[in-house]
Amino acid sequence: MNHLAPALTTVRLSLHVLAAAVFVGGQVTMVGLLPDVRRLGGDAGVRIARAFAKVSWPAFGVLLLTGIWNVSAVHASHSTSAWKAVLMVKIGVVVLAGVAAWLHSRSTSKKSLAIWGSIAGIASLAAVVLGVLLSG
Ligand code: HEM
Repeated sequence: MNHLAPALTTVRLSLHVLAAAVFVGGQVTMVGLLPDVRRLGGDAGVRIARAFAKVSWPAFGVLLLTGIWNVSAVHASHSTSAWKAVLMVKIGVVVLAGVAAWLHSRSTSKKSLAIWGSIAGIASLAAVVLGVLLSG
């Protein structure tokens, strides 16, 4: 039977999904924009990356807070061992995304920028897929 989500569930999931759109979609958008931004010359690439960090870290914070809210809200009704296992993998992937994004922001060589940026991006995309899996 199709039914509407209760109001609080709508707020919880809307905040989580909006933050995921900013954190993950923002990374994809940055990859698309950066070649043209760099062509502007000077330190345009670095300045745009710093501006994105001011938006993406708060979004990551909202993801952690609403993620904890999600677990406390759905745990009782979804506590199969498979669901718990996927949650554990997802939390690992989220930690990896956060650590890799932080190392990316501190990188000085092109190689380490590329490596940590790629790991952050792939781990973030994996978090989206695992989140959809968890929401059943
Ligand atoms: C990079 C960070 C994260 C991303 C991109 C992300 C993404 C998502 C997405 C796209 C959904 C599906 C929402 C839906 O279909 O309505 C979801 C659901 C969920 N997420 Fe996250 N998430 C992140 C962090 C976290 C964290 C840190 C936790 C736990 C501490 C968490 C726990 C959950 C749970 C339990 C659900 C299922 C919610 C439900 O069924 O009501 N997430 N996530």
